Amino acid sequence: MDADELRALRRKQHDFTDQLREIGWYHSFELPDGTLINGYMSLEWERERWSRFPIPADLTGKRVLDIGAWDGWFSFEAERRGAAVTSVDCQEQANYLYLHRKLGSKADYRNLDLFELPWVDLGKFDIVFCLGVLYHLRHPLWGLEILCGLSTELVIVETFVTDGANWQDHVNDIPRMEFYETTELNGNFDNWNGPTVGCVLAMCRAAGFARVELIAADPENAVVACFRKWPPEPAEPAQEPPELLAAINPTTQGVNFNSRRDHDIDCWFRTNSAIPSKEELLLDVGEFGAAATLVAPDSGIYWAKFTLPPGLKTGWNDVRLRLPNSRFSAAQRIAIDMPRSAERIVIAGVRDSLHSEADCVNVTESGYLSCWVKGLPENADRGNLRLWLGDARMAITFAGEPIEGRRQINAKAPQDCPKGELPLRVECAGVMSEPVAVKVT
Ligand SMILES: C[S@@+](CC[C@H](N)C(=O)[O-])C[C@H]1O[C@@H](n2cnc3c(N)ncnc32)[C@H](O)[C@@H]1O
Repeated sequence: MDADELRALRRKQHDFTDQLREIGWYHSFELPDGTLINGYMSLEWERERWSRFPIPADLTGKRVLDIGAWDGWFSFEAERRGAAVTSVDCQEQANYLYLHRKLGSKADYRNLDLFELPWVDLGKFDIVFCLGVLYHLRHPLWGLEILCGLSTELVIVETFVTDGANWQDHVNDIPRMEFYETTELNGNFDNWNGPTVGCVLAMCRAAGFARVELIAADPENAVVACFRKWPPEPAEPAQEPPELLAAINPTTQGVNFNSRRDHDIDCWFRTNSAIPSKEELLLDVGEFGAAATLVAPDSGIYWAKFTLPPGLKTGWNDVRLRLPNSRFSAAQRIAIDMPRSAERIVIAGVRDSLHSEADCVNVTESGYLSCWVKGLPENADRGNLRLWLGDARMAITFAGEPIEGRRQINAKAPQDCPKGELPLRVECAGVMSEPVAVKVT
């Protein structure tokens, strides 16, 4: 299809504006007294859409968030099945309000944009519906990240796709997304993107879900179930758990993560099983699963990269790794958005790393020194510690665990460091230690 033909197709695709104006309702409803409201979408199709969702029939005890609820069929259906429902729509809908009254609904209706949700404390939801909304978003991946962070079990994403009829023909292609700057998709200004099926799946994975499964693909729509957790550990494991050696922020090399800007976590592990594929690595960070994006041998052990799950609790979170048929490894831990505080930082000893000579560093030979420091915050790490030799910053190569209140820090002096006696200082959490004199040779 050439560009003009594609433009003409998109312009008319999925356009139901006239029918909607005539009918007045998008969703259809069957009210408890038997009254039927016949909207643009048939009841049969609504029920068929619902039947594809991998959720229990009885939703008692579940919190459900319905983003872009419109007339509210999915919200009221979830409530009828026992859920406590929050419905969100960026346009307040008179039809929804009418039915809310008529049904005596207790659903919490919020006139909000999805992108406002990080700043509105609605709590967490077991299940989130994102039905017919993704293609309306200016920032689709960020939108998915927000929904991932608000959910504890499952997000169902149903959206317009450009290749629903033939996506299997190009499953291995690089995912693609059309961008609609104005009215390219069915003449409406509020349609922003048209991804391929593969692109929806890839964006859902990149948003930070543990598992992403395509449930259905219709010619114009894909339905994707995004799970936050792994299946339970096997009762009778056939594999030994791997040994998780380290879990590190690849940007800072430390254990602290900033949930607003960090998206990856690097792990090193050992296993006596054959080299696992990335699909066979099941990482838990706090209460959520994290999917691997890469695994590779690394000097006799393995290195794997995972997407950091959004919505982790502030503070320490355990990180544990398992294989499909093993239990979880022992935990390492990482700190999420954790503040640091220190009162007094003291350098309790310094040595040249090569010669183990006290209060000395030989810049021409290796430039490495080790020092032992007291009073550091428990989440001090390679990323948030500063070591100053005179006014030059040293590169920190190691920050050990506390032993009897002292932590070993190894660092390398810059090559151009002036020789002679220089003050060494350690800085963390806005606190600077008293200087210790170090002979630079
Ligand atoms: C195509 S309808 C989908 C209705 C229903 N969820 C369904 O699938 O049958 C899209 C709905 O999402 C709402 N919407 C679009 N962008 C939104 C956003 N950024 N935040 C919240 N709601 C949004 C629209 O107002 C509209 O009610």
